[in-house]
Amino acid sequence: MPGASPSLPTLIDTPDGSRTAFNARFGEAYGSRFGAAAQARHVFVEGTGTHTHPAPRVLEIGFGVGVNFRATLTDTTRRGATLEYVAYEFDPAPVEVLRAVAEGNEGAEHPAWLALLDAWPTLPTLTVETEQVRLTVHFRDVLTAKLPQEWASALYLDGFSPDRNPEVWTPEVAQQLAAALAPGGVLSTYSAAGRVRRALAAAGLSVEKRAGPKGKREHLRAVQGE
Ligand SMILES: C[S@@+](CC[C@H](N)C(=O)[O-])C[C@H]1O[C@@H](n2cnc3c(N)ncnc32)[C@H](O)[C@@H]1O
Repeated sequence: MPGASPSLPTLIDTPDGSRTAFNARFGEAYGSRFGAAAQARHVFVEGTGTHTHPAPRVLEIGFGVGVNFRATLTDTTRRGATLEYVAYEFDPAPVEVLRAVAEGNEGAEHPAWLALLDAWPTLPTLTVETEQVRLTVHFRDVLTAKLPQEWASALYLDGFSPDRNPEVWTPEVAQQLAAALAPGGVLSTYSAAGRVRRALAAAGLSVEKRAGPKGKREHLRAVQGE
C-alpha cells in the first residue's frame, strides 16, 4: 500500500478484483486469496440464503476487514431489503486497512460503509443506522459475549482457520451459535473440517456439505430446525 506504515497489514489482491489483507497475529489472510468477494457471496450471502431473505438478520463471528458485510450490504441494497447485521470482532484492523481493502469495490460508497469508516473503531460497540441498514459491531471476544437468542436468520462463522484460531470452532461455541439462530436460520462457514461438522451436528444443527467457492472443494452449511 503506497505510503502506508510498514506495520499495517499487507493488502492482497485477489483474482476476482477484490482485496483482502494479511493478519500477522494469526499468520493468515482475512479472506480467500482465490477471490475474497466471491467467497463472501458464495459461502456467506448465498450459503445462508441471505440473498433471498426479505429482511435478513445476520450474526457474524469475525468482522475482520468487512468484506462479508459489504457483500451483504450490496445484495440487500440491490433488492431493496432491510438488513440487521450484528458482528463480533476482538482485534479491530486499522481503519486504513478497511478503507484500502474496500476501495473501488462493491459497497465502498454505500452510506452505511462510509459511516462505519468514520466511526471505526468505537469501543466497546459501534452502531451505524441508515434507512435500511442497522449495523452493530461489538469489539469483544465472542467467547465471553452474550449472543442474541433465536435471533439470526443467518450466521456467518468466519474465524481464522480451525488450526490457528481453534477457540471459535469448539462444540461449546457451536452450541452458543445454534442458540443464536432463529428457527430455520442457517449457519455457513468456509471450513469443511470434520471436527467443525461434528461440533455443529452435536449442537443440534442439520449439517450439509456444499460445493465450495473457487479454491475450495466444499464448505459447510448448517440449518436450525423449524
Ligand atoms: C477470517 S477473519 C474474518 C474476515 C471477515 N469476516 C471479513 O469479511 O473481512 C477472522 C476474524 O475473526 C476475529 N476473531 C478471531 N477470534 C475471535 C474471537 N474469539 N472473538 C472475536 N473475534 C475473533 C479475528 O480478529 C479476525 O478479524
